[in-house]
Amino acid sequence: MIKGRIFSGMQPSGRFHLGNYMGALDNWIKLQNEYECFFSIVDLHSLTSSYDNTSLLQSNVMEMAVDWLSAGLDPEKNVVFIQSHVKEHAELFLLLSMMTPLSWLERVPTYKDKLQQLGSQGKDINTYGFLGYPVLMAADIMLYKATCVPVGEDQAAHLELTREIVRRFNYLYKKEVFPEPQAVYSKAKILPGIDGRKMSKSYGNTIPFGAGPEEVKEKVRMMLTDPKRIKRTDKGNPDVCTVYTFHKIFNPENSVEIGAKCRAAEIGCVDCKKCLAEKMNHLLADIHVKREELLNKPAYIKEVLEYGAQRARQVASANMEEIREAMNVL
Ligand code: AMP
Ligand code: TRP
Repeated sequence: MIKGRIFSGMQPSGRFHLGNYMGALDNWIKLQNEYECFFSIVDLHSLTSSYDNTSLLQSNVMEMAVDWLSAGLDPEKNVVFIQSHVKEHAELFLLLSMMTPLSWLERVPTYKDKLQQLGSQGKDINTYGFLGYPVLMAADIMLYKATCVPVGEDQAAHLELTREIVRRFNYLYKKEVFPEPQAVYSKAKILPGIDGRKMSKSYGNTIPFGAGPEEVKEKVRMMLTDPKRIKRTDKGNPDVCTVYTFHKIFNPENSVEIGAKCRAAEIGCVDCKKCLAEKMNHLLADIHVKREELLNKPAYIKEVLEYGAQRARQVASANMEEIREAMNVL
């Protein structure tokens, strides 16, 4: 039985990494069997912070589609599409912007944080569009009347705002047009990067999702281990070791044994890393082959995305009619 309708999106902002895969995409792939799902490459969202250089936008969008499909997201089961291909996103964004109080947007915690963070990197995002980022996200979700939204905890405040906009809309126009969407948090842990901090593009510590066997080996070789374990004969503390964290995630059946061997100095870091890289490459091998294959089929990817857009448009245009009617914008 279908449990409800999901909408989720991801910004095509550069190379997709294993953190995105383990933290978000892997969860979507599980949800695709339980819910009716709309998954969107939200290119308009990426314009809110990268409006000044769009030269890589098209290639990033295509690459994200390839990453999703190679990981096993099924474009028949799910509606997989590019946000800007369905113009209703822009229309609903405009209508919702009329009724969203400025103070709600100014108090979203990610707003000031990101303004500051990007500002210190010399990027000016003091724009109308950036302030409106969460309204565009609300429009995405509401356009399909989604009931569930799988997101990372970093998106919790945005989803709460969507719920407030839903309540305000339904109250103002005296009609229960929209359901209040619920967050579906992934059980996945935050994946650390090779330096032990959260894996993130902005830290430069990622393992790209499309990394081949050699690149994975190299990244694992660079991973931070227990800094107090200097000689092979020193006993290690796996709890502070990034390689061990990865073993727990990618090699769970052997991780207890590896941890014990590390503590007893029965395995060295070089061998431990070799074992991890082999395990990761084994798990990622099929995905990697599929990905290389799809990268050579741009026409097929375009077709899949156009098919998704057509299906999305059907739902979006019907809902948009009802929304305009509720607002008397006829
Ligand atoms: P971002 O690339 O930061 O926009 O994140 C896109 C999605 O991937 C969000 O749902 C994040 O929660 C998830 N994500 C990003 N980095 C990690 C990570 N290191 N571990 C787990 N999930 C992550
Ligand atoms: N803001 C989300 C992120 O950066 C991406 C996103 C856009 C989204 N629209 C959405 C997520 C709608 C869930 C639902 O991760």
